[in-house]
Amino acid sequence: MSEQNSGRRALVMALVVSAIAGAVAIGVGLRAAGGDADGAVARVAPMATEEYGRRLVAHTAELLGQEQPDPNLRYINSRLNCGSCHLDAGSEPGTLTLQLTDEHFPRFSGRSGTMTDIEDRINECMQRSMNGAPLPMDSPEMIAIAAYLRTLGAHFGATGASGKRVSEPPAFKTPVRAADPEHGRRVFEARCSICHGPEGQGLLAGEARSQGYVFPPLWGPDSFNDGAGMHRVVTAARFIKARMPLGDATLTDDEAFDVAAFINVQPRPGMPNLDRDYPDRTTKPADNPYGPFADDFPLEQHRLGPFQPIDAYYKALKAKK
Ligand code: HEC
Ligand code: HEC
Repeated sequence: MSEQNSGRRALVMALVVSAIAGAVAIGVGLRAAGGDADGAVARVAPMATEEYGRRLVAHTAELLGQEQPDPNLRYINSRLNCGSCHLDAGSEPGTLTLQLTDEHFPRFSGRSGTMTDIEDRINECMQRSMNGAPLPMDSPEMIAIAAYLRTLGAHFGATGASGKRVSEPPAFKTPVRAADPEHGRRVFEARCSICHGPEGQGLLAGEARSQGYVFPPLWGPDSFNDGAGMHRVVTAARFIKARMPLGDATLTDDEAFDVAAFINVQPRPGMPNLDRDYPDRTTKPADNPYGPFADDFPLEQHRLGPFQPIDAYYKALKAKK
C-alpha cells in the first residue's frame, strides 16, 4: 500500500470514529434536552423536517431498527443505515448519490410495473435494502425523508461545477465471463475483511447493538435481503469499484466483479413474493438473481454471468418487435 493510501485510510478511519462519536453526542444531547419515557427522542426534539429526514438516512438502524424504544417505529430488520450505501447521507456526488433523486422521479419502474414517485422508491429500499416494512405515506418519517431528498436536489441544483465534481475511478465495465466467487474470496480477505470482518459480519458500534454498525455487515441477518439491488452482481460491482475499499477505491473490474459475486453467494434474509417483480419479464435486468425469466438461460448465469449473451438475446427480441 502506498503511503498516500495508508494515510487516506487512517483519515477515513478517524473520520468514521469521529462521526460515530458525534452521533452519540447529539443523541445524548437530545435525550438530555427533550427525551421522554416513550423514547420518541428524535421526534419530539424541535427540529426541521429536513433535518429529521437527514438523521433518519444517516442513523436508520438507531432510529428505525428493532432496538428503537418506540415499538411503532421499529420498521427495519436489518441494522444498516440508508447511508451505508448512499454515502454521506446521500450527499456525496457519484455512484448511489441521492442528489439527483428529485430529478429522477416520477418515473416508470420495471420492477413494480407502475409509475413511481420518490416515496415509492424510498419504500423499495425500506423493504429490500433495509429488509423492513414500508413507511406509511403520511408518517412523519416518510414526509421527513422525502423532504430531505428534495432539499438535497435543490442544494445540488444551486451548487457550482466544483461541488458537483465526482472523484471516483472509471466506471465498472462488466467482464466478458462468469464471475468467480473463489477469486472473490481472496479479494475479500485481502481488501475488505479488515473493516467488514473475516465473516463479513461487520463491526458493531457498541455492545448494545442499538447504534448499529461502524462497518456494516455484507451478508447475514443484519444485512440487505435477496430482493435488494445490491444483491445483483453488476449493481454491487459498480458500487464496490467506485467506493470500496472506503478511502482507497483501487479495485480492477475483475476484482470488483468477483468480490461482488463472493458476497452475493453468501446467506442473507429472503424477501417473499419476488416472483411478482417485473410483471413484464422482458424488462428484467440480465443480472437479476431470481426468476421467473422470459428466457432459457440457467439461473446460475443470471446470478454470476456471463451477462453479454443474455443482453444480446433481449436486444434481438426487442428489435423483432
Ligand atoms: C444495501 C444498499 C442500500 C441501502 C442500505 C439503501 N439503498 Fe437506496 N438504493 C440502493 C441501490 C443499489 C439503488 C438503485 C440504484 C440504481 O437504480 O442503479 C438505490 C436507489 C435508491 C433511490 C433512487 C435514487 C435515484 O436517484 O434514482 C432512493 C430514493 C433510495 N435508494 C433511498 C434509500 C433510502 C431512503 C434508504 C434507507 C431507508 C436506502 N435507500 C437504503 C442501495 C441501497
Ligand atoms: C476502511 C474500511 C473499509 C474497507 C477496507 C471496506 N469497506 Fe466497505 N464499507 C465501509 C463503510 C464504513 C461502509 C458504510 C459507509 C458509511 O456508513 O458511510 C461500507 C459499505 C459497504 C457496502 C454497502 C453496505 C453493506 O453493508 O452492504 C458494501 C457492499 C461494501 N462496503 C463492500 C466492500 C468491499 C467488497 C470491500 C473490499 C473490496 C470493502 N467494502 C472494503 C468501510 C470499508
